[in-house]
Amino acid sequence: MGASHVRGLAAEGARIAVCDVLDEEGKALAEGLPGAQYHHLDVTDEEAWQSVVRTVEDTFGSVDVLVNNAGIVHFGGVEEQSPEHFRRILDVNVVGTFLGMHTVLPGMRRRGHGSVVNISSAAGLMGFSEGIGYVTSKWGIRGMTKAAALDMAGSGVRVNSVHPGVIRTPMGESAAPGLFADQPVPRIGEPEEVTRMVLFLACDDASYTTGGEFLVDGGQTIGHVGQAHATAGR
Ligand SMILES: NC(=O)c1ccc[n+]([C@@H]2O[C@H](COP(=O)([O-])OP(=O)(O)OC[C@H]3O[C@@H](n4cnc5c(N)ncnc54)[C@H](O)[C@@H]3O)[C@@H](O)[C@H]2O)c1
Repeated sequence: MGASHVRGLAAEGARIAVCDVLDEEGKALAEGLPGAQYHHLDVTDEEAWQSVVRTVEDTFGSVDVLVNNAGIVHFGGVEEQSPEHFRRILDVNVVGTFLGMHTVLPGMRRRGHGSVVNISSAAGLMGFSEGIGYVTSKWGIRGMTKAAALDMAGSGVRVNSVHPGVIRTPMGESAAPGLFADQPVPRIGEPEEVTRMVLFLACDDASYTTGGEFLVDGGQTIGHVGQAHATAGR
């Protein structure tokens, strides 16, 4: 999904710093975009964040938009998930998002302008079985987005969260196909559909919008189609 966001932002004229731990894929993506840079960045590494952001600010002048997209999932219920996996999910998804904001927000505040888009999930709005670590992390991202938006009040910097449903990526395609039958938009989502929301929040079209949670989930989180009817008939 990050690749789609990068292409969408580049098409709007942004200069892009692609960051990932998958160097080959990241470099190939950046090479296809005029003026883009690739940086190896493990989002759990505070020093790496400092060094990457310094380089980007030195070469581009500023970081105006941060999309905190990196994320991992390990499926497992509360009884089965290993504490190691639980901690690892929180480290990448929650601490990684915190470190991104912690590193770029001072520069945005100095310049009086900026937008942070934190990628949460439908799992940041509801519970899912077998997803204790992931659900915890995505609720965490939703909450820290609001806390950070308040911390940046009056600074000209906005912080919002995006909540994709099941999206066609290696992560999303691991979801059961049956999931869509009782969803209001009964199909998997495309990365570009999430990108359009990211672009809106990244730019001044969303100038009166901060601390908000934005769903791109095909209606997944509002309930199940036909459920009340089926229950009444029992
Ligand atoms: N695909 C879905 O259905 C779905 C739904 C809701 C939310 N999301 C969220 O959207 C985001 C993107 O997911 P995706 O589906 O494209 O997943 P993906 O697994 O295809 O991509 C995740 C990316 O994060 C990178 N990454 C993982 N650990 C990292 C680390 N420590 N440092 C830097 N980069 C790291 C991976 O290398 C990969 O490029 C994630 O935050 C995910 O939780 C996905």
